[in-house]
Amino acid sequence: MTDYPQKLSGDEIRRKFLEFYRKRGHQIVTSASLIPEDPTVLLTIAGMLTFKPIFLGQRIPEFPRAASSQKCIRTNDIENVGRTKRHHTFFEMLGNFSFGDYFKEQAISWGWEVSTELFGLPKERLIVSVFDLDEETYAIWRDKIGVPEKRIKRMGTNDNFWNSGVTGPCGPCSEIYYDFHPELGDDIDLEDDSRFIEFYNLVFMESNRDANGNLTPLASKNIDTGMGLERMAQILQQVPNNYETDLILPIIKKVGDIARADYSKSDEKTKISLKIISDHMRAIVHMIADHIYASNAGRGYVLRRLIRRVVRHGRLIGIDEEFTTKLAENVIILGESAYPHLRERESAIKTELQQEESCFLKTLARGEKILAGVINKLKHQGKTIISGDETFKLYDTYGFPKELTQEIAEEEGLTIDSDGFTIEMQKQIKRAQSSHKTIDLTVKHPLDNKSSDHIHSTEFLGYTQTVASVRVELLLVEGIAKEEAEAGMEVQVVLNKTPFYAESGGQIGDKGSLFSNDLFIKIRDVKKESDFYV
Ligand code: SER
Repeated sequence: MTDYPQKLSGDEIRRKFLEFYRKRGHQIVTSASLIPEDPTVLLTIAGMLTFKPIFLGQRIPEFPRAASSQKCIRTNDIENVGRTKRHHTFFEMLGNFSFGDYFKEQAISWGWEVSTELFGLPKERLIVSVFDLDEETYAIWRDKIGVPEKRIKRMGTNDNFWNSGVTGPCGPCSEIYYDFHPELGDDIDLEDDSRFIEFYNLVFMESNRDANGNLTPLASKNIDTGMGLERMAQILQQVPNNYETDLILPIIKKVGDIARADYSKSDEKTKISLKIISDHMRAIVHMIADHIYASNAGRGYVLRRLIRRVVRHGRLIGIDEEFTTKLAENVIILGESAYPHLRERESAIKTELQQEESCFLKTLARGEKILAGVINKLKHQGKTIISGDETFKLYDTYGFPKELTQEIAEEEGLTIDSDGFTIEMQKQIKRAQSSHKTIDLTVKHPLDNKSSDHIHSTEFLGYTQTVASVRVELLLVEGIAKEEAEAGMEVQVVLNKTPFYAESGGQIGDKGSLFSNDLFIKIRDVKKESDFYV
């Protein structure tokens, strides 16, 4: 063991961790897609998600032990990204798992060995936390591992009881923290992130939580652990935050080059934007690589929101050109040795980014101008809240996202009336619903004229099929071709092919549904307009 942390690259940390557990009988499992099989979550949020059916006894494991480096996305605390040392939307979680095989004592002992021997962290810089009712774990740390009592902290349910969601497998956990400033003495506040960082979470997965919050024991006692790769890199590379590790800094530098801003000499506000852009670009590239595309719902909306934040922060630091595809190249270069499919998906990633960015830039320019006027007026009136009505108008009429209005408002020392926005949104949904009967669905431009040159006539499949995989050729809102429609609206679509029979000769059109990953349209009627089924 060395006295001081070794300077290992992110790639070396990942490799060494997996090798350690491979030698101890763990099957190395490739990172799963960011689109989880588990329908209770939108995105893969932890390494354990792939193994959830095993923990619940729904799937027989092919091996009793596994280890992985899992790409994860969490956006629940997106407002902290770039502002704290360690929050990210995209991160990699190194983990070792036991499915009814080894349990607490072995997991703790290997967790300690990885920290102190494999990565060489000095023992006197490590603090551990335990769930306050878990005496067994406390005793293992104190008696078997030899951690002095002053460096074992008892924590409550909020901090040291890990749940995979509202329902599902869960259990008490024990975390290992690194102390950047042991010279500050034994007055330990683990919440102080200028001094401590939690880098390894050992979960003793032994219960299942039902919808009423009741815990029942799982059939076997399992281990689920998570070590933040970026966090371990920060410790071992001895840099002030996760962003300055070799996993992210090259992207920051590239953004800085484009914006002509030197990260190390930048003011705090610029640094935050550089960090947000770099963090989000990692998430975006990995999401598109895993076949998530920007849309107005579900995970597609998470992606759209991340791209929009990148574009906006780019403008804040003076980037006035399209830049996201250049950064995508950087993310691919950094990630392709661990995730080779990034290069295979290069063209899809760049095309999606290019389309979203150019479309959003137009929306942004218009919305920002209107919002600046609103803010100016409010400031002159000595007011500090942007009304729900104004926020909704920006969103509804100009396509300017509420989150952006909120973010810009905060930068100007203002707030938005979120409740007011929700009320306006509900009114809008009601309006859309009550206007169902009167809405004019006549196609305004006959579909056989020039405006439809680019779409193909609909192929009818209904003689042999009732279900088909189709493409939307044209979207119409109130009879007019549109790029987008909001949830709750009545729309018409023209498909490239369809199993739906169209109204004709006294027979009414078919009813049914049209759906994709994050879209559901109820089909109420089908009509034929020249060669198109609408
Ligand atoms: N599931 C735990 C976490 O996400 C340990 O992997 O922290």
